[in-house]
Amino acid sequence: MHRLRRPLLLCCTGLWVSLWPLCRGQRFTCETASCARHDVWEPVPFANSTEVCQDAQLRALDEFVSIFPQQCREWAAAGMGPWGDCRKKYCEVLGHLAGNLSHQGSNLYYGGDECRPLVNFNQTLCETSYRDAEGFCECLCPTMGHLQIPRVGACEEKIMKFLFLGRRGYELSQKYALSGYCSDFICEYFGKVGEPNPPYPVAGIPPICKTYDLPWRLYSCIELLSRKNYTPEPWLTPYPADSILECTDATTHEVDIRHIDTWGVCGNHKFRWRCPQGFPIMCRDPYGCSGDHCCEETVDMCPLGERVASTFLAIELPEWRGLWPPDWIAALGPTTTLGAYDRFKQNLRTTTGGPSFAQQIADYAWAGTAVLVAIGMTCSCLACYYMGVINTTYVRKVVLGPARLLNAYQADPVTFFASGKLPRDKKREAPLPPMRPAHEIEEERKDKEAVAALGDAWDLATLKGMRHLIDAHGDPDPLQAKLLRDAIRIARARGLQARNPVADLLEKGERWLSTLEAEKELLKAVEEARPDLRWASQVRLTQPPVLGKPWHATTQSKAAEAQVRRTGWTHIEGLRAAVQAARGRDISESHMNEAEVLLQALVARTHELPADRCVLDPDGFGVKLLPRGQHRAVWPVTGDSYTFNEGAKFGGEMGVDVSAPKELLGDAATEDARPVCAEWAKKSTCKAGRDCPWRHCKPQVGDSIRECILFDM
Ligand SMILES: *[C@@H]1O[C@H](CO)[C@@H](O)[C@H](O)[C@H]1NC(C)=O
Ligand SMILES: *[C@@H]1O[C@H](CO)[C@@H](O)[C@H](O)[C@H]1NC(C)=O
Ligand SMILES: *[C@@H]1O[C@H](CO)[C@@H](O)[C@H](O)[C@H]1NC(C)=O
Ligand SMILES: *[C@@H]1O[C@H](CO)[C@@H](O)[C@H](O)[C@H]1NC(C)=O
Repeated sequence: MHRLRRPLLLCCTGLWVSLWPLCRGQRFTCETASCARHDVWEPVPFANSTEVCQDAQLRALDEFVSIFPQQCREWAAAGMGPWGDCRKKYCEVLGHLAGNLSHQGSNLYYGGDECRPLVNFNQTLCETSYRDAEGFCECLCPTMGHLQIPRVGACEEKIMKFLFLGRRGYELSQKYALSGYCSDFICEYFGKVGEPNPPYPVAGIPPICKTYDLPWRLYSCIELLSRKNYTPEPWLTPYPADSILECTDATTHEVDIRHIDTWGVCGNHKFRWRCPQGFPIMCRDPYGCSGDHCCEETVDMCPLGERVASTFLAIELPEWRGLWPPDWIAALGPTTTLGAYDRFKQNLRTTTGGPSFAQQIADYAWAGTAVLVAIGMTCSCLACYYMGVINTTYVRKVVLGPARLLNAYQADPVTFFASGKLPRDKKREAPLPPMRPAHEIEEERKDKEAVAALGDAWDLATLKGMRHLIDAHGDPDPLQAKLLRDAIRIARARGLQARNPVADLLEKGERWLSTLEAEKELLKAVEEARPDLRWASQVRLTQPPVLGKPWHATTQSKAAEAQVRRTGWTHIEGLRAAVQAARGRDISESHMNEAEVLLQALVARTHELPADRCVLDPDGFGVKLLPRGQHRAVWPVTGDSYTFNEGAKFGGEMGVDVSAPKELLGDAATEDARPVCAEWAKKSTCKAGRDCPWRHCKPQVGDSIRECILFDM
């Protein structure tokens, strides 16, 4: 009876302490109902309203966010535990912010809707009861080391701004919204510190971190933080259909209450996002139903209550409005006194119960154990002795008798011990496969690695795209090309071509690389030919070798001019060959287009197409160009023409004008050689419209420009 008095007393005190404020409406006791400086706030009528609100925010961020991560890391590095002044500083900065947002301490506030939530603040309460302050200083600060963020993108600052100010109201959340990139880092951190039952627990996480309902599932967390129109608790609005479950990856699935399996569907879709309308309540326990939050018809069906927004992320905490936090209220409990008392005790972190029975007897436990062991040993010795003396030989015979040993030796344990009724498993009785040597296992591991590397390289390559793999001539090969090339080389070297995914991957990968090569060739040809645009339209003059000597009418000058023209022509032919080669490949349309346009322009601007490269179109559409390396010649005896390949000993058939297939012949259209209309070039309009003889387009290098003159006949 004496021992029971203390818990009883404690219980009664606890109940009294917890029930007493119930009469007071579950609010903190303050001068005002909301515990802020005023209950009713009016926006200021001044023009500097927005400006003051922005300034105050900047000052607050500068005073807290810019020092917080560093302070926490320094204190932790110095082994001094969490930063001591953290909570004081946090509340002081927010207190200044609230103070500066009110006009001279009156109930007029600056900044409209954006800054309205910030004036609801009580510094005393912040230091004792605000859970956001507690979260920052007792969870985030000591675990800062787990928040690993690369410098690129200044995500740490953005995350801190979001957590400090961004989550304090809807407008603010828009202003400090996090991108998917930055959310990734904070979400990985939440995963480390917030997972209630992690398979691999991280050491040194304060248990308080687990009480904040952090969104510890990575993908859900990223979605939660980075979706437009930040909502910390999207599950509050159920999916507007009776039996459709929405998963985090935004897929929706029909579920059926009679087929429980259908409810597990979100397990493959990054977990549940919203419950169906028929089961609108999402429960708090993250493992409640097939490893996910349950969807129920009413809150009472959830053992831990309804799922709530994380204290870290909610844009509305009751204590900001002078109300009790929900766990205080829950601690009161409606009827179940004992459970509520237990929970209350957990909340009062300072109270400890009396020593338990186990603790009380701990000091004498060893003696009891020793006595018990001694008694047990004596008994067994006596028994052995008794049995052994009266019947040693018999016992020995039964246990170790030669007949028995022989029997045991001959019996196959499987058949011997198997129950006769069970079907015999031939596989189990079959001899084990021979042991494999270590090098074979090692080779297999390497093979597997090579296959995986090839798969990864191909995945990366597909991310780059299938076409348009480089942008311009001279660009280095994309990173993916090297990875893919290496992976293909290794896979081939290991002779994996015949394996199942490899053959397919090799083929696709090589096609990808060949597209890259074709694009490179084409761009190279384009870059080589492009400078010709400038002077293709000009007659290239040659100089006499000795000044003053007759030159222009001489054979030598004709030969020299032909030589100059031929060099100009090689670029055009090179480009044409590249375009033709690229047509068969699956390459970027824009590169192809660029090359074709350039080719057309070059051909059109060349004043005199070389006669030995032109033939009459077999279909009768003017003149066509021969493919690279083919020439046309005229047999002087009969005047018939024939074609021959460069460097060949024999020409084609006499009198047959065309030897190359039609599709290899190039176009010699002259459209692009027309001058550009001057008026169009200047104003992009031309009053003559279609009657204007000149081209209506933006002039390019090498184009000539003419005024448009129309005669009325
Ligand atoms: C702030 O909270 C404290 C503690 O509850 C309270 O005593 C004080 O009156 C509050 N301040 C205002 C302005 O209401
Ligand atoms: C904003 O403007 C009002 C009136 O023009 C002025 O009284 C007030 O001091 C200004 N507030 C700040 C913070 O500058
Ligand atoms: C306004 O902010 C400054 C600095 O942040 C602070 O010193 C000052 O006390 C604040 N004013 C009010 C009324 O809180
Ligand atoms: C040993 O015990 C067995 C069975 O209880 C009995 O048949 C046998 O005669 C005993 N032998 C001796 C030496 O007592």
